[in-house]
Amino acid sequence: EKGTYPHFMLKEIDEQPIVMRKIIHEYQDENNELKLDHDIRQAMKAADRIYIIAAGTSYHAGLVGKEFIEKLAEIPVEVHVASEFSYNMPLLSKNPLFVFISQSGETADSRAVLVKVKEMGYPALTITNVPGSTLSREANYTLHLHAGPEIAVASTKAYTAQIAVLAILAVDTAKVKGLELDFDPMQELAIVANAMDVLTAQKETIEQLTRDYLATTRNAFFIGRSADYNVSLEGALKLKEISYIQAEGFAGGELKHGTIALIEEGTPVIALATQENVNYSIRGNVQEVVARGANAMIISMKGLEQDDDAFVLPQVHKLLTPLVSVVPLQLLAYYAALHRDCDVDKPRNLAKSVTVE
Ligand code: M6R
Repeated sequence: EKGTYPHFMLKEIDEQPIVMRKIIHEYQDENNELKLDHDIRQAMKAADRIYIIAAGTSYHAGLVGKEFIEKLAEIPVEVHVASEFSYNMPLLSKNPLFVFISQSGETADSRAVLVKVKEMGYPALTITNVPGSTLSREANYTLHLHAGPEIAVASTKAYTAQIAVLAILAVDTAKVKGLELDFDPMQELAIVANAMDVLTAQKETIEQLTRDYLATTRNAFFIGRSADYNVSLEGALKLKEISYIQAEGFAGGELKHGTIALIEEGTPVIALATQENVNYSIRGNVQEVVARGANAMIISMKGLEQDDDAFVLPQVHKLLTPLVSVVPLQLLAYYAALHRDCDVDKPRNLAKSVTVE
């Protein structure tokens, strides 16, 4: 139930810190050690390459998960849009593990891939919010998101839950493989949960930014580099899905290879700047679009902020920035849809789970 909330989406955005804490609790044993099934550990350890298969927001979470698994567990990862994979299958490695990410566990495009790879005899792990779902039942292994029911069509808390579970999976695999890590995922996720509390208390600031940047626009661009690029894709999807503003996420450096032609006087450009190693270059990209008239908003992170930044996120571990940078983007989309009188929880032409291919 919505309780006092006007929309499920807003309630689900606010639940994200609670979900982080629930995940910390569920994936930890009484000795504060990571808790995962032995079989999943073996499957991860045996894989020479991981193929993440997903759609929409879950695909965007997969892009973030790739970075965790490659950097922490040192296993190469490919992330594929489910609807493309079946018909354009890449050359597979010798011992692949397929990881399906799906909030609902019912997405037909992902299921089609699962059926195919099972026929080929490969192991599959489903990461889902619905343990009894089709993708969960038909895969060899399941990891549960523990996000609670997600009702709004626009996925919010499932995205952050997917990223948190992927971080835990990556660290757990690194430990099983005996790799040295100076990253305690539970401690870092607890910091993220507190940061999310701070962010969800700043709704009025984000609502004002929505008025300043997105009130009458027909289009908007989200830019970022590395981890911020992955989140910019999700920010754009959220905005277009519920407010019907045409939006695209771009790698900061890619803009000048074509898309910058679309920048006009007043075009909103929302830039994420949470990564130290690309802070200078993303700010350079912002100057390029501002010089062409863009109305640019920089969302940065404590420690990297500059005077004119529109919004500064609380500091979290550099790998986990997507968990906090996505929150203002979810809220921007929410308020943009609200101000345009759109049906926030049930956008036109969309269903919560897409059960046709
Ligand atoms: O249930 P799934 O995670 O498999 O759903 C995948 C997409 O259909 C879903 O994430 C969709 O993109 C959302 N409406 C985005 O907010």
